[in-house]
Amino acid sequence: MAFLTLSIFILSGLLLTTADPTVAHPGNAVEACASINKSLGSPIVQTSSGPEYNFTVNNAWNVQNTLFKPACIVFPRQASHVQTAMKAIFKAKVHYAVQAGSHTGMKGWNNVQDGILIMFSHMQSLSYDAPSHSVTFEPGIHWGNATAALSQFGVAVVGGRVGDVGTGLLLGGGISFLSPSQGYAADNFLSLDVVLVDGTLVTATASNKYSDLFKVLKGGANRFGIVTKYTVRAVDVGTANETPFFGGHIIYNSSYAATLSKATAKYTRETTDSKAALLFTITTTLINGVAQQVCVLFLFYHGTALPQSIFGDFLTVPAITKELSPLSWTQILPAQDPPDFVSSNRGFVQHFSASAVVPQDNLVLDALSHFQNFSSTFLHNGTQSGMNTTSFVLTPILTTQIAAGHAKGGNVMVSPSLKGPYLNVQRSEQFDAGITDIPQFVQDGMNLYIKQVPPSPGLPLFINECDKGQNVYKTYGEFELLKSTYKKYDPTRFNMLFTEGPIGL
Ligand SMILES: Cc1cc2nc3c(=O)[nH]c(=O)nc-3n(C[C@H](O)[C@H](O)[C@H](O)COP(=O)(O)OP(=O)(O)OC[C@H]3O[C@@H](n4cnc5c(N)ncnc54)[C@H](O)[C@@H]3O)c2cc1C
Ligand SMILES: *[C@@H]1O[C@H](CO)[C@@H](O)[C@H](O)[C@H]1NC(C)=O
Ligand SMILES: *[C@@H]1O[C@H](CO)[C@@H](O)[C@H](O)[C@H]1NC(C)=O
Ligand SMILES: *[C@@H]1O[C@H](CO)[C@@H](O)[C@H](O)[C@H]1NC(C)=O
Ligand SMILES: *[C@@H]1O[C@H](CO)[C@@H](O)[C@H](O)[C@H]1NC(C)=O
Ligand SMILES: *[C@@H]1O[C@H](CO)[C@@H](O)[C@H](O)[C@H]1NC(C)=O
Ligand SMILES: *[C@@H]1O[C@H](CO)[C@@H](O)[C@H](O)[C@H]1NC(C)=O
Ligand SMILES: *[C@@H]1O[C@H](CO)[C@@H](O)[C@H](O)[C@H]1NC(C)=O
Repeated sequence: MAFLTLSIFILSGLLLTTADPTVAHPGNAVEACASINKSLGSPIVQTSSGPEYNFTVNNAWNVQNTLFKPACIVFPRQASHVQTAMKAIFKAKVHYAVQAGSHTGMKGWNNVQDGILIMFSHMQSLSYDAPSHSVTFEPGIHWGNATAALSQFGVAVVGGRVGDVGTGLLLGGGISFLSPSQGYAADNFLSLDVVLVDGTLVTATASNKYSDLFKVLKGGANRFGIVTKYTVRAVDVGTANETPFFGGHIIYNSSYAATLSKATAKYTRETTDSKAALLFTITTTLINGVAQQVCVLFLFYHGTALPQSIFGDFLTVPAITKELSPLSWTQILPAQDPPDFVSSNRGFVQHFSASAVVPQDNLVLDALSHFQNFSSTFLHNGTQSGMNTTSFVLTPILTTQIAAGHAKGGNVMVSPSLKGPYLNVQRSEQFDAGITDIPQFVQDGMNLYIKQVPPSPGLPLFINECDKGQNVYKTYGEFELLKSTYKKYDPTRFNMLFTEGPIGL
């Protein structure tokens, strides 16, 4: 799975230690840490001399997020510990960050300089409730481990497509290989325990007094509070011994990039069978100073073979290698990512940007040509860009996915009137080992590309794959609801002022 050789980052401005002009006096984080420690003690609260502090700081996926040194890290064991921490953070007006699976690409979104980091690595419990066909889990679990724990029951949750990624994915909407039949990952929420900025703990469901909060958490990312428990629908996928899926991946020569991009657009337009799932990537890597490009297609069908009527256009293009076979769900989303799966690798600067287009050939080819220009400009040794890898990733958002989301109550991303289909177009980059910042001229090139490949009107950008400078919320179908609900739950705008995350609220 060489896909999502993802990356990220953005404007290094707006540093967390810099007081926002609208904030009179940001408080003293060291004092706030001491006050939290008075209630919780060690090892729940750790400063840099603590046994888990270094590992935690160094473990963020984007190396840029390993460079921030928080005043202390709070490792909650239960929701009340998060409440204690947030009460102190809120009272003292201290900058803070939250980390679950550590995989955000965005610089500053999961760590904080001289502030307080709340890290969920000690909250990983998960349980399946057969009568309600639902799964309850804590934020620290990663998708691979969730898959492994659930396989004995023949069920899965709609999470991510990579085992090492974590639950922050859900709050950004989330796309799974089960999404064509189940909707965005967040569409499958049943109940969420949320610690609001002032430390109040509430349980939000579709029908209780927090139903507005419940809806905006389906795509609202980290702005509405800290989720301490998720209960979501279970999906029947078989046990580890059963192979109800068929598929795998195909690698093609890059000379077919345009042909396969068009085939992906057509697939997106025409596929109405929610048992089909697909992800198309074009990756360019600088090897010994020479840019080498390949296309990798991931394709799955919940059935015994790949139907020609759905996948024929892809199966007839000559392949370099084809690995297709019957698969269990645990093979599609293993507990441990394969060692050659570079996208789980830590230690590099990573960067993403997002677009979403209606699946017309001309729009997809246009995006591809801008990607190729971007890659060929920066991905050669001469530019000293430090960039090592670029990827162009197309995810079909089928009409069946949108319909499943509407049927489950809707989310904040997709307008109630939007039927789809559309294509998420992600660009991602990885930089050489040793690089810790993106040169301005490269960010300028990224910004030009973002202008050149705008979202089609009415389509939501995907927050999990965006550039920090993109105003994703503004593209949401329920932007007004997002704004009014934010005002209601965080009237002093504490979250916007004291933690990094999506702009525009
Ligand atoms: C290799 C790779 C593969 C990916 N594949 C997919 C994919 O298949 N589908 C998809 O949708 N996305 C995918 N993504 C994007 C991914 O969804 C986002 O990076 C997501 O934010 C990661 O969540 P995390 O918990 O791992 O990361 P973290 O960095 O720990 O968290 C991400 C963000 O969510 C916030 N957050 C986390 N937990 C909470 C909480 N409980 N309450 C409040 N805020 C919280 C954090 O503060 C941070 O801002 C992928 C990313 C990578 C790097
Ligand atoms: C936290 O309190 C414990 C006592 O419970 C103490 O040993 C430790 O040094 C304190 N840590 C910090 C970071 O203040
Ligand atoms: C943590 O890492 C820093 C360097 O980043 C090092 O100086 C320090 O000794 C380490 N501390 C522990 C407890 O490992
Ligand atoms: C997955 O579970 C194993 C076994 O419990 C544990 O050792 C590992 O740390 C977990 N992985 C992550 C990423 O938390
Ligand atoms: C792709 O095809 C071209 C010829 O069209 C060939 O020169 C090149 O080596 C091929 N690349 C790979 C990776 O097979
Ligand atoms: C890249 O360029 C630098 C400086 O021009 C040079 O030192 C280095 O050897 C080059 N690397 C490769 C792999 O060509
Ligand atoms: C560039 O990326 C490749 C693939 O991730 C990696 O093997 C290689 O070491 C990287 N090169 C440098 C100079 O970091
Ligand atoms: C290609 O990218 C470079 C670098 O961003 C930019 O200067 C140039 O205008 C782009 N060309 C086209 C045709 O978009």
